Amino acid sequence: MTDASPRPPVLVAAAVLVEEGRVLLTQRKRGTHLAGAWEFPGGKVEPGEDPRAALVRELVEEIGVEVSVGDPVEVTFHKYPEKSVLLLFFWVTRLPGSPDPRPLDVADVKWAGAGDLAPELFPPADVAILSKVRALLSPD
Ligand code: CDP
Repeated sequence: MTDASPRPPVLVAAAVLVEEGRVLLTQRKRGTHLAGAWEFPGGKVEPGEDPRAALVRELVEEIGVEVSVGDPVEVTFHKYPEKSVLLLFFWVTRLPGSPDPRPLDVADVKWAGAGDLAPELFPPADVAILSKVRALLSPD
């Protein structure tokens, strides 16, 4: 039987935060979709919420950092068997005085160099921006 009313994609905002040649990644928690994957930090945009405001909120909730959200990097769409996601990636910078990232609601956080960006570690929806990000990073 065909699905007459497929669900609309989940709208997600994600951050590309580069400092000193490294990009900030978070690891998905056990028991969540794609558990264990490393990703660009972010999360769902609530209905009616400004995607940039959603990203500011998610980064405080998940890793305790305060950021300013800049231009879009890329928009990607990915269909998983159970859902589809529309991902809005933004360049972000930490606000002066922001705390360092810590794993409040993620399994782990790390500052990654170019050598850490193996596509198989990431959700498929994140892979499209890896080459753009890699170009900005230290080689290791
Ligand atoms: O934290 P919240 O529940 O708001 O959202 P999430 O579970 O982190 O993200 C919603 C969906 O977007 C999940 O299915 C993730 O797999 C996907 N996602 C992604 O593909 N890449 C990211 N960088 C962030 C989320």
